[in-house]
Formats: sequence, structure tokens, C-alpha cells
Amino acid sequence: DEITKGGYPHYMLKEIMEQPDSIFNSMRGRLLYEEGISKLGGLQGYEDRIVRSQRIIISACGTSWHAGLVGEYMLEEYAGIPVEVEYASEFRYRHPIIRPEDTVIFISQSGETADTLASLKEAKKKGALCLGVCNVVGSSIARESNAGVYIHAGPEIGVASTKAFTSQLVVLSLITLLLARKKNLSLIEGQNIIREMQSLPEKVKKILESNDQIEKIADEYMSCRNFLYLGRGYNFPVALEGALKLKEISYIHAEGYPAAEMKHGPIALIDENMPVVFIATKDAVYDKVISNIEEVKARKGRILAIVNEDDDYIEKLVDHVIRVPKTINMLQPILSVIPLQLLAYHVAVKRGLNVDQPRNLAKSVTVE
Ligand code: AGP
Repeated sequence: DEITKGGYPHYMLKEIMEQPDSIFNSMRGRLLYEEGISKLGGLQGYEDRIVRSQRIIISACGTSWHAGLVGEYMLEEYAGIPVEVEYASEFRYRHPIIRPEDTVIFISQSGETADTLASLKEAKKKGALCLGVCNVVGSSIARESNAGVYIHAGPEIGVASTKAFTSQLVVLSLITLLLARKKNLSLIEGQNIIREMQSLPEKVKKILESNDQIEKIADEYMSCRNFLYLGRGYNFPVALEGALKLKEISYIHAEGYPAAEMKHGPIALIDENMPVVFIATKDAVYDKVISNIEEVKARKGRILAIVNEDDDYIEKLVDHVIRVPKTINMLQPILSVIPLQLLAYHVAVKRGLNVDQPRNLAKSVTVE
């Protein structure tokens, strides 16, 4: 056990720390810089059909569903194909309209999640092209799909998914790049995405150097009973994922919300006891997020913000900041989620909980 944990006290921490490598492995050999495109062997022969899809549906559960939400933003922005993201457990029972011209992507770390597998069987029956995005090679979802892309994150043992999430996002970026280039994205823009992807492992290493700082911040928040996580645009799914990480391993109630929705209800919860985690990197909605931060501050909420390295404005407004390097908006979630993984980890450890095997949870949910 000690050996497989590589000297770390928990698998979860080991897997968080492995991310510079796991992210690299997900893209290794798959980026063609000269052509500004990705090469995905598992999709060979299906590319044109995917490009011609009327619609892409993404079906998944939990963290993989959060990855799917980021995928929706990427694919719609760059490939211009309408995307719907479905909870597999809802999708399969609600008589979904699935057409043969649709492509359905099933995202699953384990490749064994019962609801995701059942939704795959349903979509296949209806004649859609079914693609698997899995980590476990030869898993049921990988086998049942018509084609797919492995994320190559390496074995993930901790129940809380960490490196699989960032690798799922890398693979969704690769799929987006492929489709976008086959549609209207220019060579220059494609090459820009590739350069940004190639710089991710170094940027992740930098974030991981904040581990001690995040551990100290965890001291201040470990006794809180509730948390709100807020983000907009590409960072909205990151808010959901940050909240899920905290819930599942620290047993603290946490909710992720699109920051602007706060004023439609959750703002009533804010007082000096309510910590709010903002994911506030510099993107198209940055100024709007600042307004949301000010709204929370005016109600005395405690704020922890994930900001870009060059941001010297937000730290004046909030209680704590954690800095992450800048990248293009579509890839920013791969970086901004990492401090939230570490925060959840340290809070849970400080509360004396079983981080790798939280109560009531299994690594892969094979019951419906
Ligand atoms: C994530 O931390 C969870 N433990 C859980 O939500 C998980 O992502 C979900 O059960 C889906 O699993 P899969 O990716 O193996 O299908």
C-alpha cells in the first residue's frame, strides 16, 4: 500500500500531484503542431461523421458529467455544433430524442458506471454514433462504444476523482480541436490551442507549489458547515466540481452555482459565517464576477478566490486568494480546479476523515 501511494499519505494526494504527468500522457502523440490539429486514433474513420453531426449529446455522471459541461462550452464555441449534456441516469429514462445523425459521447473514468452504460445501450439502439471517453482500458463502456478516446490518466484509486477529471478535459479539448479544424478554425488558431495545451503540465506544476499555502487556508475553513462555490462561463462547471470534491470527502455541505444565479436565491444564505469560493480568472465574464464578489462582500461573506497570477485587484476585495497561471479560456478549468482539489483534500484530512474511501461511496457505481 505504502509503495503504491508513492510516499504520499493518501492516493488522492498522489493523484492530485501526478497531474503534470497525467495531463501530458493524455495528449502525448496526439498533437500535430504543423497541421494545427489533433490525431485521435480511436476516432479514425468516424471523423467526418462526427463533424457532420446535427448535435452532440454528452452523457455521464458525477465528476465526468462536470467534464461534459466544460466540453459543451468548448465544442459549441470552437466546433459550432450544438451540444447537450445529460445526467446518464435521467437521460436513459426520459424517452430522449436520439437520431442517427447525432453523436453521443459517454464520459466515464471507470467505464463501468451502470447508468452511463445503460444510456449507451439506449443510444446505440437508436442508431446514434456512440463514442466512449474512458480511463480504464477494455472497460464495458469502452467496449460497447462504436469508437472512442482513452484518457490515459493511469489508475485512479481515490474515490474522489481528480486526475481523471483534468485528463477528461484534455481529451475533450483534443476532440474540440479536431472538429474545429475540420470546420472553420484557422491553422494559426489551431496552433495557438496546441501551444497552450503543451504548456499545461508546467503550469500545473506551478499550481502544485501552492500546496502549503492551500493547507494553511484549509485551517481557516475546516470548521465551516456550508460552502458556496461560484463561477461563470467555463468556470461554472469548475464551481460544481469544487463543491462536489468538498462534499464527498469532507462531508461539508457545499453548493456550486453559476455566480450570477446567486441573486436569484442563494444570496439569502450569505452572512459572516458563509464562505464563498469564487473562481474568478480573467476571461470574458471577469468584470461580471467582480460585481458578484462585491455583492457577497457587501453582505459580509468570507471569500476565497481563485485568480490569475497577474491579478492584483481581487486580493483587495477578498479574504484569501490562490493564484493560477493564465491560459486560454477553454483550458482554464484544467488549471483552476486543482486548488479546489487540494482545498477539499486538506479540509478532509484536518477533519480526520478517510479521504480515499469516504463513507457511503464506491469508486465505481455499478448499481442503477
Ligand atoms: C467523483 O469524485 C465521484 N466519486 C463520482 O461522482 C464519479 O465521478 C461518478 O460516479 C462517475 O464515475 P465514472 O467516471 O467512473 O463513470
